[in-house]
Amino acid sequence: MTEIDPRELRNCFGKFATGITVITALAPDGTKIGLTVNSFSSLSLDPPMILWSLDLKSNSVDALKASPHFAVNVLASDQMEASNNFASPSDEKFVGVDLIHSDYNLPLLSETVAYLECKNVGQYKGGDHLIFIGEVVNFKINDKKPLLYANGQYAVAARHPGTKQADPGIRAKTSNDDFIIPLLLRSFWELSDPFYQELLDAGIPVAHARILVHLNHSPKLTTKEVAEAIRVDMASVAMSVSWLCDAGHLTKLDDDRLIMSEPGQALLDDVQCRAERFEQEVLDGYTPDEIVMLKSMLRKLIYRKEV
Ligand SMILES: Cc1cc2nc3c(=O)[nH]c(=O)nc-3n(C[C@H](O)[C@H](O)[C@H](O)COP(=O)(O)O)c2cc1C
Repeated sequence: MTEIDPRELRNCFGKFATGITVITALAPDGTKIGLTVNSFSSLSLDPPMILWSLDLKSNSVDALKASPHFAVNVLASDQMEASNNFASPSDEKFVGVDLIHSDYNLPLLSETVAYLECKNVGQYKGGDHLIFIGEVVNFKINDKKPLLYANGQYAVAARHPGTKQADPGIRAKTSNDDFIIPLLLRSFWELSDPFYQELLDAGIPVAHARILVHLNHSPKLTTKEVAEAIRVDMASVAMSVSWLCDAGHLTKLDDDRLIMSEPGQALLDDVQCRAERFEQEVLDGYTPDEIVMLKSMLRKLIYRKEV
């Protein structure tokens, strides 16, 4: 048998993504018990049962063994602080914590994704842990996103982009709405129209902004090369370049290559500041994971020929 390295084994267990719960109960002397647990699992539908396991070294072993009921509080994505609080060995875990009413006199945390009140029906020793079996006597679900734990880190849930079904909240209105090109075009217009209008209102024509952004990425291009890169006709780009040169934003070298000057850089900084703020507004309400996934999918489409 290969030797098992406990630290590696812990890392291996951590590859299995879970939600996070706080198990709460009342000790026989009335003290509130609470600890963060991700070993929770559903066990049976009929009868309704769940399980979780407790480290035998935990301070709460005796109280939980003796408690006739316990609650499983399923944490929401905005309850990372609660998870850290109840994962500490402190005596003051419940100080300042909002609780809601329980018919079973259990400390129920407020604002969770769900809770299950359980009858403590069995305990079984499993190595250095004690497996608790609970029979569900009451439960409630709230409309929030769960907090997740994977690879030793907190995470949030997002629908996998590979899943076929569209977000049920945003189904395709027509079959045309399901093709990638109209979807990309429509989303581009939805975002670019108000942003380009904002630039125009600030006295920055879009063509000027696009030329500066491009020259920032690829300095010293000629007017013709810029026109090809940003896919705008040569005559329009030449007009914008001439305006940018007259205004002192660009300098044209003898070989027709364009250099950005200090005022040009300042104008570009202004455009980029506005773009960052606009992006924050547009993506408000998306989770960090959704944003990373959206950008990664778009990059995959852009660079698909290079993969
Ligand atoms: C994400 C996470 C998951 C945890 N899962 C468990 C678990 O399933 N069982 C357990 O006994 N401890 C688990 N712990 C550790 C306990 O929360 C921690 O040891 C806590 O201090 C125990 O409290 P107590 O000693 O007051 O009982 C977990 C901690 C974290 C951060």
